[in-house]
Amino acid sequence: MDVPTMERRHVLQTYKRAPVVFTRGEGVYLFDEDGRRYLDLISGVGVASLGHANPALAAALADQAQTLLHTSNLYYHGLQGQVASRLASLSGLPRAFFCNSGTEAMEGCLKFARRYWHTAGEAKRTGLVALEHAFHGRTMGSLSVTWDEHYRAPFEPLLQDVVWVPAGNPAALTEAVSHRTTAIVIETIQGEGGVRPLSPAFAAAVREAQQRTGALLIADEVQCGLGRTGHAFGYQRLGLEPDLAAVGKALGAGMPVGAALLSERIAAAVSAGDHGSTYGGNLLACRAALVFLDALTAGGLQEHVRTVGAQFAAGLCELAGRHAVIREVRGAGLMWGIDLQVDAAPFVQAALGRGLLINRTSETVIRLLPPFVISASEVAESLSQLDAIFAEGVQERAA
Ligand SMILES: Cc1ncc(COP(=O)(O)O)c(C=O)c1O
Repeated sequence: MDVPTMERRHVLQTYKRAPVVFTRGEGVYLFDEDGRRYLDLISGVGVASLGHANPALAAALADQAQTLLHTSNLYYHGLQGQVASRLASLSGLPRAFFCNSGTEAMEGCLKFARRYWHTAGEAKRTGLVALEHAFHGRTMGSLSVTWDEHYRAPFEPLLQDVVWVPAGNPAALTEAVSHRTTAIVIETIQGEGGVRPLSPAFAAAVREAQQRTGALLIADEVQCGLGRTGHAFGYQRLGLEPDLAAVGKALGAGMPVGAALLSERIAAAVSAGDHGSTYGGNLLACRAALVFLDALTAGGLQEHVRTVGAQFAAGLCELAGRHAVIREVRGAGLMWGIDLQVDAAPFVQAALGRGLLINRTSETVIRLLPPFVISASEVAESLSQLDAIFAEGVQERAA
């Protein structure tokens, strides 16, 4: 496929896109301009939680568009409070600041953490402890705690005082966190960094460091949160108690919406005017979030993720036993990384050719982030497609 001329000329070329143009979707499937069907195991990078063209979401958005889309945060509307209250019940963090993306949610968390220490009279407490392989976004603050040198280097200087810790080394975390640390920043399962879950031993070191130094904990749940792993939040699985958490992606099921969630203690340090967003939490975004949160809780979607997640877990382990190219399978629920002995790119390309959408991260890792609504038979179809791709890939390399 040729890159469309107008796209090449007028869209800033910051992405390496796959050579396909999608025109419509239905459930876990996308269709290209020739009507070819693709099984979508990446869901717009973890966003299309309810699948594509979800009828309940479409109806709610149409209704909202015909009623009222946006009024700004100069005034109240009825939906922000409802979304914030649902998020509070799920997360244990009672206050929400609404924004439009994951990076903004993280930016909010970093600012609110700073603001907390400012209010506490410790403005010099500016250190951040972040993890190797972390990804938190591309704005200047969130980029400062993103590990990949390629992303950071062209934009330095960024925030100073960031100490990097290997995620598998609890002792290094203990050493890095001090009374100068504003916050420890974690993803409970690192997404972009190769689908790497934090260990219970590392979580224990985080808890100890919080207690010893008072350092705040920021949990970036943009990718792994809100039911993706079969739990509302990954930190709950690890027994962690963050002061702040960032959410995005699945929350809007395709509408851009994110939120920074705060404990009451942090919220008490924030004043009117400290932060803001013109669009943040507008009616359309909140309506989408309510449809998603309804499905997740009352609709039983979280239990469904656990069931089909177990099917994925068993199937992927079987594939790992069958194909020597697979080094390790990591993840939970509907967030999986298949770590290969080789570059994952040719496998992703082969999958595209077969009508299967998967994605490469951290060079050797195939990442799967299917819609939460994927059915048991669609999981079986995914596994048999992956099986065929690995079988072909192995033959090709052997030839
Ligand atoms: C853990 C994590 N945090 C933050 C972000 C940034 O989110 P967004 O691309 O919506 O700004 C991402 C995006 O992949 C992410 O995975």
